[in-house]
Amino acid sequence: MKQREQWTSRIGFIFAASGSAIGLGNIWGFPFMVGTNGGAAFVAIYLAIILFIGYPIMVTEITVGRETQKNPVGAFKALAPDSPWWLVGALGVLAGFVILAFYSVLAGWSLAYMVKSIEGFAPGMDFGAILGAHLANPGALLGWHALFMILTIAIIASGVVQGIQRWVKILMPALLVLLLILVVRGLTLPGAGAGISFYLLPDFSAVTGKTFLNAVSQAFFSLSLGMGAMITYGSYVSKKEVVGDNAAWIVGLDTGIALLAGFAIFPAVFALGFDPAGGTGLAFTVLPAVFAAMPFAGSFFSFLFFLLLSIAALTSAISLLEVVIAWITDEKGWSRVNASIVLGAVVFVLGIPTALGFNVWSDFKILDMSLFSFYYFLTFTIALPLGALLTAIFVGYVWKAHKAQASANEPKGNINIGDWYGFIIRYVAPVAIAIVLVAGLVDKFG
Ligand code: TRP
Repeated sequence: MKQREQWTSRIGFIFAASGSAIGLGNIWGFPFMVGTNGGAAFVAIYLAIILFIGYPIMVTEITVGRETQKNPVGAFKALAPDSPWWLVGALGVLAGFVILAFYSVLAGWSLAYMVKSIEGFAPGMDFGAILGAHLANPGALLGWHALFMILTIAIIASGVVQGIQRWVKILMPALLVLLLILVVRGLTLPGAGAGISFYLLPDFSAVTGKTFLNAVSQAFFSLSLGMGAMITYGSYVSKKEVVGDNAAWIVGLDTGIALLAGFAIFPAVFALGFDPAGGTGLAFTVLPAVFAAMPFAGSFFSFLFFLLLSIAALTSAISLLEVVIAWITDEKGWSRVNASIVLGAVVFVLGIPTALGFNVWSDFKILDMSLFSFYYFLTFTIALPLGALLTAIFVGYVWKAHKAQASANEPKGNINIGDWYGFIIRYVAPVAIAIVLVAGLVDKFG
C-alpha cells in the first residue's frame, strides 16, 4: 500500500489545523454573531463553551484520527468494526460537501470585494446597494465561486505536505499580520471606545436560549468540529506528536483570531456610527463603509481586509475538501489528483443553487429559507452538532473514554488529559449538545 502522508513538523500540523479552524467563521461569522446576539454576553458564553466543550471535542477528533491514521469513515470502521458507526463518518463527508458548496460562494464575495476595493470605495456610497447589485448578478457570483474552487482544488491536488502544509505556512502568518494592522487602525479611530464597551462589557439581561444555541453552533463551526475535519487532519499526525498541547494551540489560535476580528470591527463600527447588529452583511456593507470613511487610505485597508478574509477562507476550504478527498482516496482507491478535480467539480455544481438563490431563483424557498440559508441551516444548526454529539457518544461509550484518554496521553505533553475528560465526553458534552440540537429543531419546526 502507498505510504500515507504525514505533516513533516509539529508547526506544520498546528498551522494546517488552525488554518482550517480560522476562516469566514471567525472574521465574518463571529463579529456578526456577537453583533446580533447582544455583544459581550455572547462573547462570555462563547468562551465558556469553547473551554468546556470545544477543547475536549478537539482532543477527541485529533485522537481518533491520530490513533487510526484514517479518514472519518475508515476511522469509525477501525475502532468499531462490523457496526454501523461508520455512518457518523459518512455524515461528516456529506456535510463537507454541503458546507464547502456555500462556503465557496461566500468566499467568492470576498474575492470580488478585493477587486471592488481597488476600484475604490468612497464615503457616501450606498454599500447596501453595492452588495445588492453584486448578489443580483449570477455570472459574477458563479465566476468567483469557480475561481475559489479552482484555487482550493489546486492546493489539494498537490498533496498534504506539498499542497496544504506548504501554503498554510505562508498564508497563516500573512493573515495574522494583516489582522493586527486592522486592529490597530480600528482602535486608534476617534470614538472607538463605545465599540470596545459593547464588545467587552456584558449585559446578561439580553441572553436567551437562542444565545446558547448560536454559541454552540458557532463554536463547532469555528473550530471545524463535528464533521471529521480534525479526524482527517489528525490522521496525518505522527504518533510521536502530543495531542493535548497541539489541540490547545489550535483552539487558542482560533479563539484569539475571532476575538481579534471583533477588535478590528466593533471599534470602527461604533466610531463611524453604524449598527453592530447589521447581521450577515456586517463584513460586506458596514465594513466597506467603515473603510471608505477612514481618513487615511481606506481603499487600501479595505483591500487588506478582503485579502485577509479570502486567505482565511482558502485555508478552511482546503480542509473541507480534504475530508472528502481522504475518504475517496483511502476507501475507494482514487488518485489524489483525479479525486480533487472530480469532487471539486461536484462541490462547484452543488454550490450553484446557493448562488442562484440570491437572484434568478430567489422565489424558491425551502422551509422559508433561501437556498444559501438552507445549506447553512442544514450544516451549522443540524449536521455539526449532530456529528459532535454522535462522536462524543461513540468515544465515550463505544470506544470508551479511558481508551481515548490513554491514547491522547501517549506521548505525554504539558497538558495532561485527566479524568475530567471522561466526565465531559460521557456526560457534559452529550447532554449540552443534545439540548442545543433539540432546541434548534424546535425553534425551526416547533
Ligand atoms: N472553521 C472554518 C471557519 O471558521 C470553516 C470550516 C472549515 C469548517 N472546516 C470545517 C466548519 C469543518 C465545520 C467543519 O470558517
